[in-house]
Amino acid sequence: TPTLRLGIAGLGTVGVGVLRIVENQAALLSARTGRAISVSAVSARSRGKDRGVDLSGYAWEDDPVALARRDDVDVFVELMGGADGPAKAATEAALAAGKHVVTANKAMLALHGQALAEAAEAAGVALRFEAAVAGGIPCVKALTEGLAGNAITRVSGVMNGTCNYILTRMESSGLPYAEVFKEADALGYLEADPTLDVGGIDAGHKLAILAAIAFGTQVDFEGVQLQGIQQVSIDDIHRARDMGYRIKLLGEARATPAGIEQSMRPTLVPADSPLGQLEGGTNMVVIEGDAVGQIVLRGAGAGEGPTASAVMGDVADIARGLILPPFGQPAATLTKPQRANAATE
Ligand code: NAP
Ligand code: HSE
Repeated sequence: TPTLRLGIAGLGTVGVGVLRIVENQAALLSARTGRAISVSAVSARSRGKDRGVDLSGYAWEDDPVALARRDDVDVFVELMGGADGPAKAATEAALAAGKHVVTANKAMLALHGQALAEAAEAAGVALRFEAAVAGGIPCVKALTEGLAGNAITRVSGVMNGTCNYILTRMESSGLPYAEVFKEADALGYLEADPTLDVGGIDAGHKLAILAAIAFGTQVDFEGVQLQGIQQVSIDDIHRARDMGYRIKLLGEARATPAGIEQSMRPTLVPADSPLGQLEGGTNMVVIEGDAVGQIVLRGAGAGEGPTASAVMGDVADIARGLILPPFGQPAATLTKPQRANAATE
C-alpha cells in the first residue's frame, strides 16, 4: 500500500505536535493502519522561525493554497486557524483538487461546515475535524461512529478550557475576573482575539458542530444563545459555592418538540457532579442517547499533545480508507434546524 503523504499548513502549537507524532510514532501508526504515513510539505507564515523541530526533510510552500494542490500531498492538514482567509481558501482548494482534509479549525467549520462537507462529499474525499471540538477528547468520533445506533437527545459540556481555567482560578484564589484574565493572558491561554474565549464564541462554535452531528441538522452557530463569562463576579462564584454549586461556561444542545435548543452560558452546576468537579483547562462532553444512556468524556481540550492526538486519529482513519460523511450522514440529508429558542437575546 502506498505511503499516505501529508501536507501541513500551520506550524504553531498543533502543527508542530502533529510533526512530532508522525516522526515519533511512525512504527505504531504503520502497524495500526497498514500504511506508512509521511509529511511531504509544510507551510507557515515565517519560513525562518525556529519551531523546535527539524523541517529540513520537508518541502516548503509559502502559499498554503499551493501546498493544498501539490501532487505529493494526499491529505491536506489545515492548522492555521481563522474562519475565512487562507484556511478556507486552502481547504476549498484541497477539496477541489481531490485531497482529503483534516482540520482543527472550529471557527471555519461552525461558519462554513455545510458547504465544505458538500464539497468533500462531491469530491469523494474525507473532511475530518476531531481536533476542532474539545481537543483531545474523541467526541466527534463517538457521535458519528460509536453512537450511530442512538437517537441523541442532548449534548452538553464544558468546551473551552480557558474559561474553565478562569472560573476555577477565580474560585480558588479569590481574585476578580480582571486579574485572572491577566494571568491567563500571561500564561498564553487566550486566543489571539480573547473575546473568542471569554465571550463564549469558541465554545459556541464547538457546540454548534456537535449539535449538527447529534441531530442531523446543518451547523447553526447563529442559533446558539451565547453569553460569555465577562460578567461573572467573585461574589457570584462565592454565592454559588455556598449553595453547593459551581459556575461553569456550560454548553447545551437539546432536541425538543419545538426544535433544537442550543445555549452556551455561565450556568450553576452541582459542585459534586462530574461537571462541578472539572478543574483548570479540562473539557467535558456529556452525550445522552436513547439506547446508551449518558456518556461522560473528559480530558484535555487544548495543547500540543492532546490536539495533535486528535488530528492523527483522523489521519489514521484516512490511512485505513475510512471515508465517512463529515457530519455523520450525507450533507444533502442534513436539514435546516428548527430553532426552539430565539437566537440572541
Ligand atoms: P498557532 O500556534 O497560532 O499557529 C498557527 C500557525 O499557522 C502558525 O505556524 C502560523 O505561521 C500559521 N499561519 C497563520 N496564518 C498563516 C498564513 N496566512 N499562511 C500560512 N501560515 C499561516 O495556532 P494553533 O494553536 O496551533 O492552532 C491551530 C488551529 O488549531 C486553529 O484552528 C485552532 O483554533 C485549532 N486548535 C488549537 C488548539 C490548541 O490547543 N492550540 C486546540 C484545538 C484546536 P507562523 O508560525 O509563521 O506565524
Ligand atoms: N481557546 C481554546 C480553549 C483552545 O481554551 O479551549 C482549544 O480549542
